[in-house]
Amino acid sequence: MTDLELMRLAEDARAYSYTPYSNFAVGAALLTKSGKVYTGCNIESASYTPTNCAERTAVFKAVSEGERDFAAIAVIGGPAGEKGRFCAPCGVCRQVLREFCTSDFRILLGTVEEVKVFTLEDLLPTSFGPSDLKGV
Ligand code: THU
Repeated sequence: MTDLELMRLAEDARAYSYTPYSNFAVGAALLTKSGKVYTGCNIESASYTPTNCAERTAVFKAVSEGERDFAAIAVIGGPAGEKGRFCAPCGVCRQVLREFCTSDFRILLGTVEEVKVFTLEDLLPTSFGPSDLKGV
């Protein structure tokens, strides 16, 4: 699976976004270390706060099926019905990724033509994570 292939799967997942309030469709494709891909889209709610981002949809789908070892995630977003563009993960999704992802985890942002690679340390420096609760 190349980075651009993973990004194309993220773009495909945008088609399922449910965004009647923002009209902003996001897709994510999460690659496990064993080579499986879990896709996700954002799902909004009339009461707004239950809205789930595409990245968390993908992570929760994977974890709920027993997967916890992840290699990479591709994320892409933009106005629904238009081609996806660069979309950085929100702070909540960065923290959720922090829960499961090791330092070699790759975050792919950009378009279906060009992908930029980030680490979680790039996007969430000096973070709080599972090891902070050891021994509590
Ligand atoms: N959104 C995501 O799906 N992922 C992000 O990381 C940024 C924001 C969604 C949430 C909401 O449905 C819409 O984009 C506008 O904020």
